[in-house]
Amino acid sequence: MYLTNLEERMLSGENGEVLQRMFRLLVRLGEIYGADRMIPINSSQVAGVSYKSIGDPGIEFLEDYASKNAKVKVVTFLNPAGMDIEDWQKLNIPPGFAEKQLRIMNAFKRMGIVVSATCTPYLAGNLPRFREHIAWSESSAISFSNSVIGARTNREGGPSALAAALCGVTPNYGLHLDENRKPQMLVEVNAKLGDSADFGALGYVVGKQVKNRIPYFRGIKDVDTDQLKALGAAMAASGAVALYHVEDMTPEAHLMETKGLERLSVSDKDVNETFSKLTTGKEPDIVILGCPHSSLKEIMMVSRKLEGKKLKKPLWICTSRMVKEAANRMGFTQTIEAAGGKVVADTCMVVSPIEDMGYKTTAVNSGKAANYLPGFCKQSVIFGRLDSILEKVTA
Ligand code: F3S
Repeated sequence: MYLTNLEERMLSGENGEVLQRMFRLLVRLGEIYGADRMIPINSSQVAGVSYKSIGDPGIEFLEDYASKNAKVKVVTFLNPAGMDIEDWQKLNIPPGFAEKQLRIMNAFKRMGIVVSATCTPYLAGNLPRFREHIAWSESSAISFSNSVIGARTNREGGPSALAAALCGVTPNYGLHLDENRKPQMLVEVNAKLGDSADFGALGYVVGKQVKNRIPYFRGIKDVDTDQLKALGAAMAASGAVALYHVEDMTPEAHLMETKGLERLSVSDKDVNETFSKLTTGKEPDIVILGCPHSSLKEIMMVSRKLEGKKLKKPLWICTSRMVKEAANRMGFTQTIEAAGGKVVADTCMVVSPIEDMGYKTTAVNSGKAANYLPGFCKQSVIFGRLDSILEKVTA
């Protein structure tokens, strides 16, 4: 792989031990995947933030790097942490967990990383442009940035995204290259889709079939940003889809050739069966919305539906700190709190320790969350459309 003089110097350790180790990791990745060179990136998003995922070894690693004065070169956001960094006490997060989580956040902050912990950085101030090279590591954010924005990122792991953030470059392979962004399967959608949960169910079905290939959707007549984020998140979870195209909707779709592609057809029956297939519980102990993190519009919708109502069970809406600030300002948070719910920032149902907080059955409107909650959080799941979920828990 071609390296510039500056990069050679980084590799030889001239810029310190941290950069040497991190750059070595990028070179190794580049060699494995046949990259010709490094390319500059303009933003990064680092996963491996929750204490639940990285544990004590993760804290030691991050504090070591922070103490060696490692600093990121590009705007870098974090994936959700294990708790709301400001309101963790209100959520009854165990104090021992909170202390460790705060140490992790502090180490990231010392590295110059924006301690905004969200899987929707594009809704919170880190919005790449079309064709911009980035290094992101949360699967739904990767899918959204590649597909809906047309930016370019591979499915980075936490370490490789951190390495790219510290070095300012990433190896040029995979989805950074035009030739690897072509569709590999044509998905004909013959289903009526309305609620975002329908798109999550569709994504779940397609991800299972497509695995890590690139689907091209035909037949989706109308879709908004929130529905696309639900679709991509579910496909990235049930499969490993990092890029998809939707005819007439996503920015690269019109450049793509679909002749001769293997076909998959998805019907109403497939979508409806997914709700029952992923539902393993009966009565929810808690409702958690916001997977991926909610947009302001989604919070507004929930606040309107809860106006004047009382919740019989706890309800969280997960979002980014920035969107929560706007929701506070608009009074949406107050309406939701008056009903007994919470707008929770910085975290999500999968990376927070809900299984240690007495919850056994969680109701969600997200195909991704429905897929992950049994394994990651030992939860029984109720997967449904927003109205049907709220109906179960409102008086
Ligand atoms: Fe985001 Fe957590 Fe879902 S990271 S996509 S809210 S599982």
